[in-house]
Amino acid sequence: MAILNRTSTTVQDDKRSLIFLDKKIFFDESEKTRLSAGAEVLSGDLITALKEIRNRFLLVTVEESGNQDTTADTRVNSILSQSGIDIASTVHGLQEIRELHRDGTIPPAVIERLFPGNFIPPEQIYLIHTGLKLTIFCDEASTGETESCLPETLTLSFHTYEDMVSWILSHPRPYQKLRKALLLGADILAKGGLVAFPTETVYGLGADATDPNAVKKIFSAKKRPFYDPLIVHVSERDQMLPLVTDLPEKASLLISRFWPGPLTIVLPKSSLIPSIVTAGFPSVAIRMPSNPLALELIRLSGKPIAAPSANLFGCTSPTTARHVQEQLEGSYDAIIDGGGCTVGIESTVISFVGETPRILRPGGIDQAAIESCIGKVLSGEQHSEEEISESPGMLPSHYATATPLRIVEDLNDYASRKDVGVLLYGTSSQVFSGPVEYLSISGDPAEAAKRLYQAMRRLDSLSLSLIVVKLLPENGIGLAVNNRLLKAAAGPQD
Ligand code: TXA
Ligand code: MG
Repeated sequence: MAILNRTSTTVQDDKRSLIFLDKKIFFDESEKTRLSAGAEVLSGDLITALKEIRNRFLLVTVEESGNQDTTADTRVNSILSQSGIDIASTVHGLQEIRELHRDGTIPPAVIERLFPGNFIPPEQIYLIHTGLKLTIFCDEASTGETESCLPETLTLSFHTYEDMVSWILSHPRPYQKLRKALLLGADILAKGGLVAFPTETVYGLGADATDPNAVKKIFSAKKRPFYDPLIVHVSERDQMLPLVTDLPEKASLLISRFWPGPLTIVLPKSSLIPSIVTAGFPSVAIRMPSNPLALELIRLSGKPIAAPSANLFGCTSPTTARHVQEQLEGSYDAIIDGGGCTVGIESTVISFVGETPRILRPGGIDQAAIESCIGKVLSGEQHSEEEISESPGMLPSHYATATPLRIVEDLNDYASRKDVGVLLYGTSSQVFSGPVEYLSISGDPAEAAKRLYQAMRRLDSLSLSLIVVKLLPENGIGLAVNNRLLKAAAGPQD
C-alpha cells in the first residue's frame, strides 16, 4: 500500500502549483535530530510545514516501487490525515520527476497519470526530498538577451522545514525570482555596492575586489579591522590567473581537484588586487565556490569578488540569509536568499607562500584529501606569531556566541541545569533539563559541520547562562568543527 491512495483530485485554479514529496522524507534519519530521544519517527517540524502549505499547493507523494513498509505507511497516513493534510496523488519513481522537460513542465503523460482526464499544466513544480532539500525547475524560456549559466534545476538545502516553507512562500516563480535577484546583485557589485550571497560554506558579503572603495565598505559593515585580509572569489579558473604572479604546480593540482569547492589558495598577488584586500600582504587568498548561485553572481558581475563571511567581526558565521539579516541588515545593498549552506563551515585555507604548502585554517576540505593530492603539507597548532598576524582567522578568539560556550569532558555534569544549552553530537540516554541542539544523531561529522552555526545561534538566542559541547573525534571535517568550537569557547573579541 502506498501513502494515501489516489483521491479524485482536480487541478484546481487556486492550487496551480505542485509539490512533490519524496516519500522518504517521512522516514528521514536527520529529521530525528529535532526530536527528543526516543520520540516518534515523524517530525513535528515537517507536519507543521505541510500544514502551512496544504491549502496553497497540491501535494503529491513520490515513491520508488518495491520494498514498502505497510506498517510505517499506515502510521504516516494516520498522522497526515489527523493533521488535515491531503495527499492529492502518488507517483512512482523520483527519476521521472527529476528528468523534467527543459522548460520545467512535467511531461504531459505524467500529468495524465496523476490527474486522469483533468490535464491542466501546473504553474510551478517543487520537489521536496530527503536531507531537507528542495529542487526547483527552470520556469522560463531563455530570452536570448542575457544568457544564464544557472543549471535547469536547482537544489537548495535548508536547516529546518520551517525555513524551507518560508522560502517557498516568499519565492513565487522561484527560478525567475532568483535569476532577477542575481542580475540585480551583479549590477550592484559591478557598480561598487555590497551584496550578501550564499556559498556552499557560509554566506559571504561581497564587493568588487578590484575596487578599493567597494572593498572598504565590507570592513565597515562587518566592523572588521583592516589587518584581516579577505578571500577573493572567482567563477572560473581563468579569472584567477591575472590576479596572481605565480601558480606552483601543486596549487594547480589542488585547483583541478577541488575547485569549485571549499578550498582557498593563498598565492603571490598581482597588481590587479588592491592592498586593502590583502591587508597589505603580498599574497592573495582565492577560491572558486561551488554554490551555483554564487558562481552565477560572480560570472554576471564580471569581477573577482572579495567576500568574508557575512557576520560581524568575531561573531558566529551565517548559514542562512536570515542569519545575515540579523547582524548586518541595512549595511548591504542586496541579499540573495539561497536557503541554507551545505558545508556549513568555512573553506580550508592553504598557503603556497612558504617552501612547503601550509594549511592556515582547517575547513571544508580535510588535510588527508589535500595530502592525497599533493603529498605532505604543514598544518596544526605550531604557528608562529608572524604567521598568526599573516592570517588573523587563526586568532584564538573567533566565531563567538554572545552566550559563553564551554568545551567539556562530560555533558552529563550539566544535565540538571535548565540555564545550560547542550550541543550534542550523536545521541545520549541522559535527559537534559536545558535545551539540546543535535549536531548529528548518527555521528556524521559532515552533518555536524552543516548544522554547527545554526545550532550555536539557536542556543545563543535563548538567553542561557552557558552552552556546553564535547569535541568531536579528531578526523576529517571533525577537526575543522573542533577548531571553530575551540575558538568560539575563547569568547568574543574585545
Ligand atoms: O568559506 C569561506 O572561506 C568564506 C566564504 C564566504 O567564502 N569566507 C570566509 O572569509 O570565511 P573570512 O574573511 O571570514 O575568512 C578569511 C580567512 C581569514 O582567516 C583570513 O585571515 C584568511 O582567510 N586570509 C585571507 N587572505 C589571506 C592572505 N592573503 N594570507 C593569509 N590568510 C588570508
Ligand atoms: Mg569569518
